[in-house]
Amino acid sequence: MTIKEALNWSTQRLQKIIDSEVAQTRGAEIGSAFLDSEVLLADALKKDRVYLLAHQGKSLTPLQKKKFETYVRQRIKRMPVAYIAGMKEFYGLTFNVNRNVLIPRPETELLVDTVLKEINYKLQTINYKLIDVGTGSGCIAIALAKNLPNKASILASDISSKALSTAKKNAQRNGVANRIHFVNSDLLTQISTSYKLSARGGPASSGQATSSIFVANLPYLSYKQYFEAKKQYPELAYEPKSALVAKENGLREIKQLLFQIKKYHIKHAILFLEIDPSQAKPLKALAKKILGDSRCVFQRDLSGRIRIAKVSL
Ligand SMILES: C[S@@+](CC[C@H](N)C(=O)[O-])C[C@H]1O[C@@H](n2cnc3c(N)ncnc32)[C@H](O)[C@@H]1O
Repeated sequence: MTIKEALNWSTQRLQKIIDSEVAQTRGAEIGSAFLDSEVLLADALKKDRVYLLAHQGKSLTPLQKKKFETYVRQRIKRMPVAYIAGMKEFYGLTFNVNRNVLIPRPETELLVDTVLKEINYKLQTINYKLIDVGTGSGCIAIALAKNLPNKASILASDISSKALSTAKKNAQRNGVANRIHFVNSDLLTQISTSYKLSARGGPASSGQATSSIFVANLPYLSYKQYFEAKKQYPELAYEPKSALVAKENGLREIKQLLFQIKKYHIKHAILFLEIDPSQAKPLKALAKKILGDSRCVFQRDLSGRIRIAKVSL
């Protein structure tokens, strides 16, 4: 089987799924059959997609063929391409992914953009600590570390130790392992005291208050949203449910984070949260109720839907 034949064979098989009656009635999508085939074949051959184009007549070895066929069978079972290939691009960087971590989403790049803009334009002159809560693959903390000056102090936490071990590998892969401190923690419980997040956490000599900048893409789907989304994208079933779904209409983890900020007397804080558009109003009310005097503003994504909340206190 040549590269060209392998691509045709896989594209036809995946296209069949796209065209199948079941997929159509569910409105399901399996991405682009050709694009997926290219990514999977490139990975099976340990080459890039340009190589495939330039060597269409080259034959696959029996081992490569077997590996590719396994990949295609996995994809037919709706395993996400990122899990099959074991990696995903985010913010121009490459991340290892596996079933212990959420696959980084393009919409989360807006969260990184927003934080970078805020720091570069408004917060240049203050001391700050950045805390990525619920770091998963580490994509947010690592993208920030790559785009901020070396002096930026960055913490990244997750309740899942398996996720953290992937995040650490990703920090190494992207050359920022010495810039990020990873902590296994239920939200801020293991962080608040050891890392002095409260009012005067600045270096002793400066006497200057340190701002805590929390960046969090915590699970925010309600159970109803999750089950509906899974009907349309069966791929979601492969991702950790605990990374996607939260009780109390998807707001439980975010609400707990606000409670902890209050409980640990954290002042001078700004929170950047990725949310579902439906959570804007309830979040504003929660912030007011829990944190009192706080300001909550929202940012929309490219499709015009509210996606980021900025809570300042
Ligand atoms: C939506 S995923 C986001 C992962 C990554 N930040 C990203 O943007 O791709 C949410 C992450 O929060 C973690 N998480 C869920 N509940 C948590 C908690 N109570 N404390 C810390 N992390 C939590 C999950 O393990 C998961 O890695």
